[in-house]
Amino acid sequence: MNVRVFASEQEAAAACAALVAAAVREKPSLVLGLPTGRTPLNVYRELVALHRHGQLDFSKVTTFNLDEFLGLGPDDPSSFRAYMERHFFQHVNLAPERIHFLDGSAERAERECARYDVQLAAAGGLDLVLLGIGPNGHMAFVEPGESLQAGSHRARLSRESRQAVASLFGDDVWKVPLAALTLGMSALLQARRVILLAFGVSKAAAVTAMVRGPITTLCPASFLQLHGNVEVWVDAEAGRGMDGSR
Ligand code: PGA
Repeated sequence: MNVRVFASEQEAAAACAALVAAAVREKPSLVLGLPTGRTPLNVYRELVALHRHGQLDFSKVTTFNLDEFLGLGPDDPSSFRAYMERHFFQHVNLAPERIHFLDGSAERAERECARYDVQLAAAGGLDLVLLGIGPNGHMAFVEPGESLQAGSHRARLSRESRQAVASLFGDDVWKVPLAALTLGMSALLQARRVILLAFGVSKAAAVTAMVRGPITTLCPASFLQLHGNVEVWVDAEAGRGMDGSR
């Protein structure tokens, strides 16, 4: 796995946005996998700035977001869909019909997950996916456990994961849904290129486990060791376990 340690989160975010921009210029119909959370905020800011300056045209790009809270519809202000609207979608020229999302309010979760996997397959899979990592080693909402699922699925959220997203729910962890719908390992591992971003000391142990540890379902991101085209971009704090000296 290629690990690159950046001087700052901002530098990594700018480099990530530049990489996305280059990928879109090379292939205007790029299929892009997109994360939510704190980690990609600066990337979205940079991408929006590039678009505003006329340097980036999203009109032919297709997006698939990684996950959504179970029970929340797209209009719920706490949903990941609403997050994406706020931070990215409403500021760029993506075609609405090429934006794809799991619908957390769908009546039948399994059918909704199957629908999403069919849509993704029809789009040809992900050309490029941006990922974060949870302190528990999750990617998307593929949570650590005894086994992992290949397809999109309903995932029970760990307490740690719910805590991490409490800010979307007025900092009240009790309001965070107990479950989510998420892409599975197959979509993530079959993405043609993966950029995983991790910032801050709270991610250091997970980054070390992902890069240096055994491949284990207890750290879903460790399966990225099997992928041939992954870059892990960290700041010094998240990368502190990488130089072997600390
Ligand atoms: P964060 O979440 O960006 O809010 O830290 C990352 C993740 O859980 O994948």
